[in-house]
Amino acid sequence: MALQTAIVLAAGEGTRMKSSLPKVLHEVAGRSLLGHVLHAVNQLQPNDLRVVVGAGSEEVTAHLAQIAPKATTIFQETRGGTGHAAQLALAGKTSKGTILILAGDTPLLTADSLKQFVEMHAQGKFAASVLTAEHSDPTGYGRIIRDDNDELLRIVEEKDASENEKYIFEINSGVYAFDGEKLGAALGKLTSSNAQGELYLTDVIGILKSAGESIAAVMIDDFTETLGVNDRVQLAESAAMIRDRINEHWMRSGVTIIDPTTTWIDSTVHLAQDVTLHPGTSLFGKTTVESGAVIGPRSTLTDCQVKAGAQVLESIAVETVIGEGATVGPFTYLRAGTQLGDLSKAGAFVEMKKASLGTGSKVPHLSYVGDATIGDGSNIGAATIFVNYDGVEKHHTTIGDHVRIGSDTMLVAPVIVGDGAYTAAGSVITEDVPAGAIGISRSEQRNVLDWVLRKRKGSKSAQAAEASSDKKKK
Ligand code: UD1
Ligand code: CA
Repeated sequence: MALQTAIVLAAGEGTRMKSSLPKVLHEVAGRSLLGHVLHAVNQLQPNDLRVVVGAGSEEVTAHLAQIAPKATTIFQETRGGTGHAAQLALAGKTSKGTILILAGDTPLLTADSLKQFVEMHAQGKFAASVLTAEHSDPTGYGRIIRDDNDELLRIVEEKDASENEKYIFEINSGVYAFDGEKLGAALGKLTSSNAQGELYLTDVIGILKSAGESIAAVMIDDFTETLGVNDRVQLAESAAMIRDRINEHWMRSGVTIIDPTTTWIDSTVHLAQDVTLHPGTSLFGKTTVESGAVIGPRSTLTDCQVKAGAQVLESIAVETVIGEGATVGPFTYLRAGTQLGDLSKAGAFVEMKKASLGTGSKVPHLSYVGDATIGDGSNIGAATIFVNYDGVEKHHTTIGDHVRIGSDTMLVAPVIVGDGAYTAAGSVITEDVPAGAIGISRSEQRNVLDWVLRKRKGSKSAQAAEASSDKKKK
């Protein structure tokens, strides 16, 4: 199947979104609405891909440069209707071969449906084909008018429809395939004598039909594919449908998803067989998860690599590598540039960023680890803080292999703790600690005997002290 040209109409205002962001740039499942449409269209490998932009054209064009650098963008300055947009896209040049036209706000359309549709069109050698759908509530859509032989006569817009026509449930999906040369000629005959004073692309169908051309109208199997996004309610509905599709795909590929309704996976994520996802898990961006890993509940991973058998519980991670068999959480925040080695641990209430933790090393509780390199087999005691920021610049801390950092140590960077070294609990470490040494930096303890008995006479503490076996012995 050869597709000569694909034209995506995306110049509309998207007024009902009530947004400063152009409608087609709103995202579902990690892709813009326009991105979803182009992803499907690109699988048909059009020789020529054109996108008509208008409202928010600068942002849309910049986005297109990233996601579809081969696409030609065509600027429609004022909204003249879908027919006007198509005229601009062809720029008066008639081209041979099949032209596919569709809108940029229908993220649910699949490449398979588009392929079938274009193949049917090409095989039947039709002048034009329209993809239709049956909607229980057709309000707002163009209606498909068929003759007594069930053949497509024309399309009538809601605003131009008679009361009887409004009772037709077969609607125009806004996806068309045309014979290039015939489209070019018919576009020149459009007029704006309709309720909206616009050039309707849909009128091309009636024009071709009156000229005796053969037209096809094919109904799609699953009408939900044709649902467009015009407001935030429809945005959420489409997102939920795409979520279900993605989850179904992964479950059929061997991923256990305990609660598919609260599990959100971007279309750009990759999961291996025998991954388990608990409720409330979101996997975004380029995240990949290897076999046997268990994630969630309530965890969000963005652009992360999770290696085989790792476990992530109630945590958030961004641009982090989680090693084989490593454990994370609960309530752990791993920021960009974190690398957890195999069998390592980032435990409860631990925050890390730009830090690597060697094989089998552990940060079990309540710590901040920023700008650090930690070797293998080391343990970072509870409530240790890597003091990486002097108020002006960030500095690095290096911890060797098999180090024991005592609880509540402040490691004031830049500082190095050598292999096998210890730090005493509560120390503020500002100097390097050589391999095998213990770094102690805290004032010596002094006990003022009977202070409570004298200064807090009669208090519960004083009474407890009086009664204590310790005291009685004296
Ligand atoms: C259009 C169809 C309608 C169909 C419906 C399917 C026409 C006249 N009507 O109606 O039969 O049922 O789609 O969703 O075509 N656009 C431009 N430039 C313009 C006008 C529109 O690029 O001047 C783009 C819009 O951004 C959008 C698409 O064309 O992506 C459709 O336009 P829209 O205004 O949404 O048309 P509908 O009224 O929904
Ligand atoms: Ca629309």
